[in-house]
Amino acid sequence: MAQAEQAGFRIVAREDYSDVTYMLEVAHPLMAKAARPGQFVIVMEHEHGERIPLTIADFSRERGTITLVIQAVGKTTREMQANCKAGTTLYALVGPMGIPSHIGKAKKVVCVGGGLGVAPVYPQARAYKESGAYVIGVIGFRNRDLMFWEDKFAAVCDELIICTDDGSAGIKGLVTEGIKQALAKHSDIDEVVAIGPPIMMKGCAETTRPHGVKTIVSLNPVMVDGTGMCGGCRVKIGEQVKFACVDGPDFDGHQVDFDDLMKRLVRYKRAEHDALERWQESCRIRADTVIDLKAAVLGNEAEIPIDIQPSTDG
Ligand SMILES: Cc1cc2nc3c(=O)[nH]c(=O)nc-3n(C[C@H](O)[C@H](O)[C@H](O)COP(=O)(O)OP(=O)(O)OC[C@H]3O[C@@H](n4cnc5c(N)ncnc54)[C@H](O)[C@@H]3O)c2cc1C
Ligand code: FES
Repeated sequence: MAQAEQAGFRIVAREDYSDVTYMLEVAHPLMAKAARPGQFVIVMEHEHGERIPLTIADFSRERGTITLVIQAVGKTTREMQANCKAGTTLYALVGPMGIPSHIGKAKKVVCVGGGLGVAPVYPQARAYKESGAYVIGVIGFRNRDLMFWEDKFAAVCDELIICTDDGSAGIKGLVTEGIKQALAKHSDIDEVVAIGPPIMMKGCAETTRPHGVKTIVSLNPVMVDGTGMCGGCRVKIGEQVKFACVDGPDFDGHQVDFDDLMKRLVRYKRAEHDALERWQESCRIRADTVIDLKAAVLGNEAEIPIDIQPSTDG
């Protein structure tokens, strides 16, 4: 595992795909060298920040970088959206974690990404293509404006099916419609890999179950330490209890107890909501402070010490 070896990890590029989805490319040559499809990192944006798991959505050994695609859903991911720019650093980055996806000898594979799940399934689609498999990509978004990486998928897929909920691009419908289309056209699909919200992965597993096609999903339970010690990421796989951070995050979708996973994911809703409110309130106070200081400076420049700046810490 490549460990943090310097004070911070430089963000070399950022791109925003929508109001809530953004990409960070982070310099870390060791991590880029060690990373395999399906693995994730644990990130702390600043010294007092929360540790959050994020999938390595891409890596370039040539550039010595890893790519993270993040959806701003709560306190930490919104704080990162506000603070992380090209040229800034992440305080800590640990990984690559988790068992790499098994890129076996499958000859025909369907790689399915729903919404943000499009990013983490990309390295698997690329790896299957490199292994010589025929790759069918199925990527789904709510609408055309939220689409990203369709060009990256087109470059590694033999066929690409785009699905949008409202029909503004590709076929109208959920990714399960795309899977059905692929299954109807190809009777020799060896494997389906599906990544996205739990309800989507559950739908994909139920779509393939009657066809008996092996279906791998990547689970995203709440993780704390990421080392198998805390038990936070416990998931039920058939009759067994597994820890997604060390036993996964990939599992057999036909064995996963998705209802249990979804119940566990909303357990901390109250605390997450409170943390977001506290952060938003502190942002508002800082913004007011800046306005007050500016007004004071404009009113009497000589009396205001020039080093008074509102803190940018969370
Ligand atoms: C293996 C793995 C890979 C992931 N990859 C990505 C990714 O590539 N991009 C991305 O945007 N998100 C990813 N996530 C989810 C991401 O970790 C959460 O969205 C993030 O932790 C939310 O933190 P928050 O403070 O912004 O929101 P909060 O308000 O704290 O939480 C919002 C929701 O995010 C989930 N969540 C909260 N804390 C954690 C945690 N410590 N671990 C896991 N889930 C949590 C819960 O479902 C929660 O309801 C991944 C999760 C896992 C387990
Ligand atoms: S995150 Fe603690 S056991 Fe997996």
